[in-house]
Amino acid sequence: MKKLAVLISGGGSNLQSIIDSTQSGILKNIACVSVVVSNKPDVFGLERAKQSNIRAVGLDYNSLGETEYNKQLFEIIKNENIDIICMAGYLKKLPEIIVQQYKKKILNIHPALLPKFGGKGMYGHFVHEAVVKAKEKKSGATVHFADENYDTGNIIIQKEIDISDTDCPVEVAKKVLKIEHEIYPLAIKKVIERNI
Ligand code: GRF
Repeated sequence: MKKLAVLISGGGSNLQSIIDSTQSGILKNIACVSVVVSNKPDVFGLERAKQSNIRAVGLDYNSLGETEYNKQLFEIIKNENIDIICMAGYLKKLPEIIVQQYKKKILNIHPALLPKFGGKGMYGHFVHEAVVKAKEKKSGATVHFADENYDTGNIIIQKEIDISDTDCPVEVAKKVLKIEHEIYPLAIKKVIERNI
């Protein structure tokens, strides 16, 4: 059974999809969420973890500062003997020590078809606004290995969706979020079963 650490910064709908898949879906008996860590102490994603009796740690990046925050994050991951780190709506860059010690064991989900519409500052609504502005007919989601940069690691799974029927970023976000929830558990399963 592989142990997952899920890193969040907000509502945690991707976290919920991962939790559900470990409890009754394609990750059942394959993986379990051992700990959920947020860079903010009061996000709903932590409540989702508690509702599933999963250890939920809300660190306060702003009061701890980058160095102390990253030290505590690394300690939690190390002490939980984590196999795979899943960044799910997580908005902080990982420190070098984690990236180096968990090479090819850190996954991130991005709400667009990377390498397009990725990189620093491209998260949440900014992504969908850029996709609409570019008059794209398709968007989608990408799960990739995370490295020391934003959204540049090898792609694990990508799925596209037709958005030609809307020019509203909020509508695009809703469509893409559904795809995210579908492909994240598939990507985790692929990494575990193919040991890629
Ligand atoms: C969403 O914009 C999603 O596209 C991206 O992070 C944001 C929050 O996701 N991955 P979540 O509901 O916290 O998982």
